[in-house]
Amino acid sequence: MMLLQCQSNGLGVQHNMTYAAITGWGKCLPPAALTNADLATFLDTDDEWIKTRTGMQERRISHVSVSDLGYIAALRALAAAGKTVDDVELIVFGSCTPDQICPNVASRVQELLGAGRAACMDVNTACTSFLYGLTTASSMLRTGAVKSAIVIGAEVISPIMDWDNRNVAVLFGDGAAAVYLEASDHKEGLLDQQLGCYGEVRDILTVHGWGMKYANQEMQMGNSYWQFEGQEIFKRAVVGMVSASNSVLERNQLSSRDVDLVVPHQANLRIIDAVAKRADIEPEKVFVNVHRYGNMSAATVAVALVESIEEGRVNPGDHILLPAFGGGLSWCAHLIKWGERIQPIGQSGAELPACNKTALELVDELRASKAPRTALQGLMI
Ligand code: ACO
Repeated sequence: MMLLQCQSNGLGVQHNMTYAAITGWGKCLPPAALTNADLATFLDTDDEWIKTRTGMQERRISHVSVSDLGYIAALRALAAAGKTVDDVELIVFGSCTPDQICPNVASRVQELLGAGRAACMDVNTACTSFLYGLTTASSMLRTGAVKSAIVIGAEVISPIMDWDNRNVAVLFGDGAAAVYLEASDHKEGLLDQQLGCYGEVRDILTVHGWGMKYANQEMQMGNSYWQFEGQEIFKRAVVGMVSASNSVLERNQLSSRDVDLVVPHQANLRIIDAVAKRADIEPEKVFVNVHRYGNMSAATVAVALVESIEEGRVNPGDHILLPAFGGGLSWCAHLIKWGERIQPIGQSGAELPACNKTALELVDELRASKAPRTALQGLMI
């Protein structure tokens, strides 16, 4: 178990424990929505196939960078917690689509916020990055390394999407959300998690052209080729999320009946349904927003958690289970105990700059800037 356990000193006296309470939350979705009908204008696909096979109806395409989305989400989370930038001691940016590798994205968010006291780190485990970031930050709060943190899950996938490939282009979208953590003596926040990875099948989801392996090979951002075995990922995702959920519940002497809400990764409605069925979770306890945003990778669980609070699905003291999987293939399940407050203390007036293009216009520009696919495949290593 990663987190510290409450230990007795043998005289029946319990040492005080520090927990990492989640006291602020905020999301930032770019406004331009790409519908299934939009996709059918340039791909051999249709609304019926996408809806029945994935549950998706639309997804967002960003006109700004991933750090801009993360920055606005962070401001909103800070306002919800009633805190200022001077309170922030750590920024963890969970993403696999950083603007830059060096310097990292968390440092850009620190600069934009003016949060000069904060340590800054990026975490990349693909779609599970927000949750691995939550583990990292919560563990640091619980050991006393920091007393507060902002954890961001954000992704701008559209520039590296293989827009000619209908197997992947329909599945993903852009977005961001953040939570604010603060040290607490109450037993709340992230209680436990089960983390894992199927490294032996890491190749079944690979984005060629994305990383230093391809440097100096004329492959640049936007010129990517996705290797994607959807059915194999589907099977592994279900097995990984169910086994992680069972482990974390068992270890905490909880049954699926004790879980008040499940906020799963949203890669496909059929994956969500299969996980709920196999983990014996009633469908009405499962939060779903895949129809609105598709799979936003690291932003997915973060946005779903924020929306479940906004939609009144979270109550004080609730046990919330967050199962997820992503490239790697990383998998995990996190167990959160919510605190007392479910209303934000304040609201931020921060907004993204206006977007004067439709999502389809943004995608058309991305497609126009991409090299022919045959050239890309020749450069794959
Ligand atoms: N529109 C129309 N037809 C399509 C499309 C499309 N967008 N995509 C595939 N098809 C076709 C296929 O070519 C195939 O045709 P064929 O039978 O003539 O060969 C047919 O539809 C069926 O394809 P399947 O792969 O069997 O479809 P399936 O029902 O398995 O669904 C899907 C495919 C949606 C990809 C599913 O496997 C899935 O959801 N996988 C996991 C999703 C995933 O991996 N997400 C990313 C996880 S990692 C992360 O989150 C970063």
